[in-house]
Amino acid sequence: MLKMAPAVLLDHYIGISRLLAGQLEFHSAIRAVAIEISQIIPHDHLDVCIIMHGGKYHTAYETGLETAWGNYPPALVSQSPIRALLWGEEPFMLTEDALVDERFNFEGAFIQPAFEQGLRSRIHLPLKVEGDIIGALSCSSHQPHFYTMEDVDNARSIADLLSAYFFALRAADQAQKSAIVEAETRVREEALRLGALNLTEALERERQRIGMDLHDQTLADLTRLARWLERLAGERVVSGDELEGLSRSLQQSMQDLRQIIEEAKPSVLQLFGFSQAVENHLDRSIRDSGAKLQQQLIDETNGIIDQLDETVSIALFRITQEAINNVIRHARANRIVVCLREHGGGISIEVLDDGFGLKTRRRVGGGINNMKTRARLISAKFSVGPNQDNKGTRVIVHLPLATVPNREL
Ligand SMILES: Nc1ncnc2c1ncn2[C@@H]1O[C@H](COP(=O)(O)OP(=O)(O)O)[C@@H](O)[C@H]1O
Ligand SMILES: [Mg+2]
Repeated sequence: MLKMAPAVLLDHYIGISRLLAGQLEFHSAIRAVAIEISQIIPHDHLDVCIIMHGGKYHTAYETGLETAWGNYPPALVSQSPIRALLWGEEPFMLTEDALVDERFNFEGAFIQPAFEQGLRSRIHLPLKVEGDIIGALSCSSHQPHFYTMEDVDNARSIADLLSAYFFALRAADQAQKSAIVEAETRVREEALRLGALNLTEALERERQRIGMDLHDQTLADLTRLARWLERLAGERVVSGDELEGLSRSLQQSMQDLRQIIEEAKPSVLQLFGFSQAVENHLDRSIRDSGAKLQQQLIDETNGIIDQLDETVSIALFRITQEAINNVIRHARANRIVVCLREHGGGISIEVLDDGFGLKTRRRVGGGINNMKTRARLISAKFSVGPNQDNKGTRVIVHLPLATVPNREL
């Protein structure tokens, strides 16, 4: 289009290189050089697109006009009007009118910005680094029949200048993104490691508690009963009353022992299923606390909850148990509802109360942290927050479908 002396052209190319230096971001880089490029190739719209994510997508950075090309990244390379160029099938593309050029108007082509903005004459050159196409430079004009082969040659030189720079920007961008992902993963793993450590400590404390219960209660009872028996053995006549008392004490001791075992291992879970175990826990803990609390248990899991792995169902049960304990201990609620559901591609358990709700500056207890860790160890989502209308508290655990066994999709 413009005839230029080689020395003037060279000046502009040097100008472009100078303007690129120090630009650390795609948008600012393209905007910095747009005016200088327009001295060589006048245009109404200029964009650089960069191929990303293993070659499937590309992102456009534009200047001059804002179009949907720049507004909805990333887009599929296969729908780009210049896909032939991005796939290396064409060394360049020059059109006198993109709106009627068949190469740009294939089925599914993302060409409507050219229609919306009336971008008719267009030239496209690949950005190449060591033979690989990393994107394209595109210049467009409202006027049809505007560009010539000479513009293509000039655009090629500009594309060669830009490509190394944009390659470096892309590499820096990808390195930064993967560094962020890596850092996030590290933080998550560290949190899980700490959580698991806390849980192990909690289990250790639990073992000690069981040991203490067995020692202080069961062993003490058995010792007392043994003495009682010894005493009876020394007597010639043993009354029925004495024996009955002894029998009652024995039964009480067995009951206490059962209680200790039950707390250590929720056998009702295996024997009667999840829902029954939850109901049992609700009944017993409400009764023991003496609180006036209405309870409701809704089970809409169609039995799927009882097909889970034992470790998974014990973890879910422990979470539910702690949520219920928290309602009883802290919420001062009138009502507690436990819902077991199969939906959203998995199983969800909700524990709702209509009590005081979580205080913003509450004590950080081990219970909620343990619930979180238990959920994460079985890849379930956990959240605790206000219930509807900020009345009370809601705990939700959601176990995704992938971990729900024997389920037909
Ligand atoms: N359902 C609830 N209603 C009101 N407050 C709650 C509820 N659940 C937990 N909390 C608050 O969160 C705190 C932390 O709970 P948790 O981690 O289980 O520790 P702990 O029960 O040992 O105090 C509790 O001390 C309490 O203040
Ligand atoms: Mg608690």
